[in-house]
Amino acid sequence: MLHPVILSGGSGTRLWPLSRQNQPKQFLALMGDHSLYQETVLRASKLPGAQPPITVCSDDHRFMVGEQLQAIRIASGGILLEPAARSTAPAIALAALHALTRDPDATLLVMPADHLIDDEAAFRGAVEAATGLAGQGWLVTFGITPEYAETGYGYILRGESLGDGGYRVERFVEKPDKDTAERYVAEGTYAWNSGMFLFRAQRYLDELATHAPVILAAARNAMAASKTDLDFIRVDHDAFAASPSDSIDYAVMEKTDRAAVVPVSCGWSDIGSWSSLWSVAERDDDGNRYEGDVIAVDTRDSLVRASERRMIATIGVEDLVIVDTADATLVARKDRVQDVKAVVDRLKQAG
Ligand code: GDD
Ligand code: MG
Repeated sequence: MLHPVILSGGSGTRLWPLSRQNQPKQFLALMGDHSLYQETVLRASKLPGAQPPITVCSDDHRFMVGEQLQAIRIASGGILLEPAARSTAPAIALAALHALTRDPDATLLVMPADHLIDDEAAFRGAVEAATGLAGQGWLVTFGITPEYAETGYGYILRGESLGDGGYRVERFVEKPDKDTAERYVAEGTYAWNSGMFLFRAQRYLDELATHAPVILAAARNAMAASKTDLDFIRVDHDAFAASPSDSIDYAVMEKTDRAAVVPVSCGWSDIGSWSSLWSVAERDDDGNRYEGDVIAVDTRDSLVRASERRMIATIGVEDLVIVDTADATLVARKDRVQDVKAVVDRLKQAG
């Protein structure tokens, strides 16, 4: 059976000042009524035959996750609470071990909680193709046609056809440097890795046993010593803290020879930064996106988000991001918003 796994342990620092440690971006209603986490859960629950979704998140966010699930009336397949962030490879190991206790034949669909997908029918078609391949033992990725040389993504070189709309992965390269990414995009033979994965739970654990046995051992120990409290599964602190921090991309996907890719065109976007939010949002004729009380005169290609406490007026500016909150305001050039991370780092240093 298909068990969606929603990864929502990230901190979303590049959407500061809206996204904060106690309320990261995946739990905010950035567009519309639902948070990105809720959108992801709803998308998963519409898949034919999908079991209740398993959430893996930080212990700090347990109440938010519980409330957000209840608000959309979706039953939980378990909420695994991490006592510390160890990136995605250990998080997915916890979910695999949990799913196997309920279903020895479990197939996992791993979904990051910070993506938008416009065309859900196309997405469902790709999941169906991937499910067939996972049944044959493949670890399936979903390939997106690259639009520019993004260095924050993984790149997939497609090999021979496996039928069912899938291909063997010839090479998987996580977060290449700028020159390499530019070459891959120019060559036209690489796809972006969407960050979603589909595989049999046991297959993933077998891959960890080969490529990252320390992560597997830590996840096993952490689950063996976990405590269950209603929907919440509290993973053991010391056992989990012993895991190295590594992503599935580096720990498994770059190393395995059992990776497959299903290319999909489903209006996928990763809401990683203010500029990506601007690019997927509806904009007016001047290319502006406003939220709240904003007066813009001769303003172009900007994202301006006022808070409830004051209005924002702009005159004669372009390509800006302005985000106001109760205690902090961001003003940045739209092509520099990746550096919001640097601001957050400084804030952390200042304590
Ligand atoms: N539970 C849990 N624990 N979730 C985590 C953790 C963790 O320690 N770390 C990250 N996550 C969640 C994030 O909240 C996000 O939903 C997802 O896992 C992916 O993590 P990111 O940190 O956003 O990964 P990335 O964007 O750098 O890279 C991945 O996604 C790209 C596409 O968006 C990779 O898979 C790339 O190859 C891919 O191109
Ligand atoms: Mg991401």
